[in-house]
Amino acid sequence: MALHIVEHPAARHYLTILRDEQTPHATFRAACEKLTLFLAMEATRSLKEKTTTVVTPLEETGGFAIEESPVVVPILRAGLGMLQVFVDLLPEVSVGYVGMERDETTAKAKSYYCKLPPMDGRTAIAIDPMLATGGSAEAVVQRLYDAGAATVKLVNIVAAPEGLARIEAAFPEIEIIAAALDRCLNEKAYICPGLGDFGDRLYGT
Ligand code: PRP
Ligand code: URA
Repeated sequence: MALHIVEHPAARHYLTILRDEQTPHATFRAACEKLTLFLAMEATRSLKEKTTTVVTPLEETGGFAIEESPVVVPILRAGLGMLQVFVDLLPEVSVGYVGMERDETTAKAKSYYCKLPPMDGRTAIAIDPMLATGGSAEAVVQRLYDAGAATVKLVNIVAAPEGLARIEAAFPEIEIIAAALDRCLNEKAYICPGLGDFGDRLYGT
């Protein structure tokens, strides 16, 4: 597994706003989008390009075009808060949706929805702000491979060592892009120091 922690002063600034328990919902949503841009840039760094030519007002020169449009897969619900950033950055992306919900007492994730575009041979980027036990991400990554994805990347805002270890054991080839690697999970499988329940803070539930 390759873990890439995005290091940038602005990324750390927005992550701190997300962590702050006093941050109101509207500010939380905006900070989520700002921070996701840094993650999206990193997650799309290795997209295949082709060379083109372009005519400037002065002369013809070489250019580049993205050859491969990835499939972005937000893990519902919280992953939806990151989706628009990817769509704005690369309007040609296809979007798949997988709904996963953790049982509040056992922290086990179960799937309640799945709608994917054709995946054969494509790069899939699964987006979910929190990687805690890794149960939700493991199920989604497996589903993306089963649907035919050639490459799967995972984008998280905060990852816990427990979740990383689980993903590494199941999919040693995967690349994970995150803004922070936190200390551990608590007894309720929340990430510490973390930022609480991302979906609840994003949607005010
Ligand atoms: C949160 C989060 C992840 C999952 C991470 O979702 O957005 O999907 O928990 O935990 P795990 O790594 O232990 O599986 P939640 O189940 O709270 O649903 P929500 O997005 O609807 O709030
Ligand atoms: N899901 C969240 O939203 N936060 C956590 O800390 C763990 C799982």
